[in-house]
Amino acid sequence: MTFPDTGQAIDQVLTRLRSYADTDTPWHAKKMFIGGSYFGGDEILNASNMAAGVYQNHNALYAGRVFPGLVEIEQEIISMLLNLYNAPPSAIGSLTGGGTESLLLAVMSALNRAKSMGKQGPFDVIIPESAHPGFDKAAHLMGLNAIRLTSSDAYRADIEQIKASIGPNAIFLAASAPSFPFGITDPVDELAIIAKKHRLWLHVDACHGGFVLPFANQLGYAIPDFDFSVDGVTSLSVDLHKLGYANKGASALLLADVKNEKYQRYTFDNWPGGRYSTMGLMGSRSAGGMASAWAMMQILGQTGYREIVSEILTARDRLINGLTDIQGIRVLGNPDAYLIAFSSDTADIMALSEGMLSKGWLTGHLTRPKAIHLFLDRENVTSISEFLEDLSDTMVEVSMGRWSATSVDADYSR
Ligand SMILES: Cc1ncc(COP(=O)(O)O)c(C=O)c1O
Repeated sequence: MTFPDTGQAIDQVLTRLRSYADTDTPWHAKKMFIGGSYFGGDEILNASNMAAGVYQNHNALYAGRVFPGLVEIEQEIISMLLNLYNAPPSAIGSLTGGGTESLLLAVMSALNRAKSMGKQGPFDVIIPESAHPGFDKAAHLMGLNAIRLTSSDAYRADIEQIKASIGPNAIFLAASAPSFPFGITDPVDELAIIAKKHRLWLHVDACHGGFVLPFANQLGYAIPDFDFSVDGVTSLSVDLHKLGYANKGASALLLADVKNEKYQRYTFDNWPGGRYSTMGLMGSRSAGGMASAWAMMQILGQTGYREIVSEILTARDRLINGLTDIQGIRVLGNPDAYLIAFSSDTADIMALSEGMLSKGWLTGHLTRPKAIHLFLDRENVTSISEFLEDLSDTMVEVSMGRWSATSVDADYSR
């Protein structure tokens, strides 16, 4: 397209814009299980959009200078989160633009701390098999050695493998609460013992589970300890723009000890523009996500989140039971939140996925082991029975050779 010389009327432009959106898969639907955007119902969506609108055009970079209200919003979100994750009085936190940014900052802080302790590189970052690629991205950007484990123990971080991979240059250990592929929380308590012994920075990635696990725990589900109640957790990330139901652009990085703040903050003042000092990677960014995060925590309260968690976990349990009842289907481990993966020892799982797609079910996939990957949204709660019926039928069709696997589509590229 060439940049038009003359402008066009807004109505005309919006019509064209909508025609692009019409070519996209809807971002939420009863038969869509791939997540990425998080639907908590129309009321929540409207509330979140309205709240984001209040601050959409405020630049969060300028908060310290001209937006004291925004500074207060950030501090209030952080104090609510510190309380939710049993943080000690020494803890602090900051908001970032997303989960990946929070992970990058955690690794960067560990690196700065290691250097300040006089340690010499090249430094190693220990990453369990199922942890998010944001950790590898961080290692790549910072010239660190990413030691990515290649197998798991019951779909969780493999403690023996981790012990064996820690050398003198290790500075950082990642844990997931839960991991994206398997939806299972790592044994954070055991990892904390290892981290303390080797003086590693232990980061708990609760980007997905941060708004599920505490409420599941309150509901009586058996949730492993994953937060600052575990001695040895150095930092924890949680995405408000995922299951906090805030608009995009809101994650938090919490530090157990304010002393580590200096390793995260970047300050520069050797230019004519004055002092530039930020806790995050981004410069300018909209405060809309932040505002909607604050508003959602006020509107829903812990009771509201608990109700949603109860609704989705009840559906999840129904789904897991139904999957287990289908001969040949095997759920991978015991998922803690809304992510479930299942495989089959008797059928080609990708052929099964192909058959389900033909019936309108859009799911994710895992490559190791090959599995169908589901993210359960609030909208999917109403489609569990239909999903299970179609899956049963499709298993029969696969056994009759009706479906064959195409390439495994497990791609999140942009
Ligand atoms: C466990 C986990 N950590 C981190 C991230 C990265 O979050 P974001 O996409 O907001 O950068 C994701 C994204 O799905 C995730 O599931």
